[in-house]
Amino acid sequence: MEREPIGVVGVGWVGLVTAACFAELGHEVWARDIVPEKVDALGRGDVPIHEPGLPELVRKNAERLHFTIDMGDVLDRAELLFVCVDTPPTYSGDADLSRVDAVLGELGDSDKHALVMKSTVPVGTGRSIRRRRDGIGYVANPEFLKEGSAVEDFMHPDRVVVGAEDGSAGYADRVEALYSPLGAEVVRTDVASAEMIKLASNAFLATKISFINEIANVSEELGADVREVARGMGLDDRIGPKFLQAGVGFGGSCFPKDVQALKQLAGNSGYHFQLLTAVVEVNELQKRRTIGKLQKHLGSLAGKEIALLGVAFKPNTDDVREATSLVLAGRLAGEGANVRAYDPVAGSKATDMLAGARIVESALEAVDGADAVVLVTEWQEFRELDWTGQVKSRMRMPLVVDGRNFLDREALVGAGFTYEGIGR
Ligand code: UGA
Repeated sequence: MEREPIGVVGVGWVGLVTAACFAELGHEVWARDIVPEKVDALGRGDVPIHEPGLPELVRKNAERLHFTIDMGDVLDRAELLFVCVDTPPTYSGDADLSRVDAVLGELGDSDKHALVMKSTVPVGTGRSIRRRRDGIGYVANPEFLKEGSAVEDFMHPDRVVVGAEDGSAGYADRVEALYSPLGAEVVRTDVASAEMIKLASNAFLATKISFINEIANVSEELGADVREVARGMGLDDRIGPKFLQAGVGFGGSCFPKDVQALKQLAGNSGYHFQLLTAVVEVNELQKRRTIGKLQKHLGSLAGKEIALLGVAFKPNTDDVREATSLVLAGRLAGEGANVRAYDPVAGSKATDMLAGARIVESALEAVDGADAVVLVTEWQEFRELDWTGQVKSRMRMPLVVDGRNFLDREALVGAGFTYEGIGR
């Protein structure tokens, strides 16, 4: 295998996974971030995010992983620069590309470096960069990593997308070669199509979730069980079983942002993407439906004690961006409820974000004296709680809203709980 020095610009979650995994594949990696504390911590082997397997990989490959705040260190050593900076949404829903522009500025007039764009960018970004920097090497190489299984996803990708125009074909070949040990199918295409593959994939998965959530809502009215429905649908090869779990809505730093970005891009080009408008709307309503379920059993929520189990937007991550817990805490506070929230890892990150809620140290502390428990995130720990013993005896009212259809309904009902799931 050809080994070549790799530059990574932006050591957030994507950048760190990319850097660590390329190092694991045997390459020297120079990874640059503008936050000195982060660079220092990583240099000591301290990984600032919760991602299974990542700290081990960083420590194991410490010799090949060089963290720096100096872009010069990277430019001196590597020609391929994997750009992994944030592209957060602006208030209009467009992506904020100022960090990508800053990287471009630092590159100066260099003609020996190529940008390999991993950050999620609007379709047309590559074209605009090449127009502004005539002749610059540019490869679109979107990431498809899921938080919580990012290392695994990097090492065993469903596909690798490499988009380039003719002038950058040589760079694209080198990028392709870096992934060849992984044995995945490579989709070699033009830059705009590569950019669109990323946004369309996320938007499609989000659509799948909003679709099954609406099926769940209708199933509640018509007496079907959405889990049975999803199982029956998922066995159809053309549909597939994944991303058909009904719940309290999708969150995270990607789906909400990317759906909005694609919708906005379409709008900017004069096309009204109707379907995505609905996907977002359904998701916002889904996040709030729990309130109605609580009111159905408790009447007014004023003064009621509500326990939220799970704060992170999904299990195995400490990420709370766009998490349903934040919306729920805000709505519950608005209704006058007292909210206690617990998360195995994300609690401390959410202290200032959970409106009016108190973050506690254990699930049992959260349920103590509660009129209802709402399971927001399906952490394994919550399944293993002693529901029929310790939990039940601590609650004032044995009411559970299981926002992920995660708990054993029969056991709970058998023990005297009132159980509300999603779509059943
Ligand atoms: C998502 C994509 O799955 C990745 O492929 C992509 O690389 C990433 O965004 C990104 O663009 O960076 P991620 O946001 O980490 O990954 O999380 P997912 O596992 O996709 O879950 C997203 C949300 O959907 C979570 O809130 C989850 O609870 C929800 N979800 C997922 C459901 O409600 N039902 C499902 O069946 C699946």
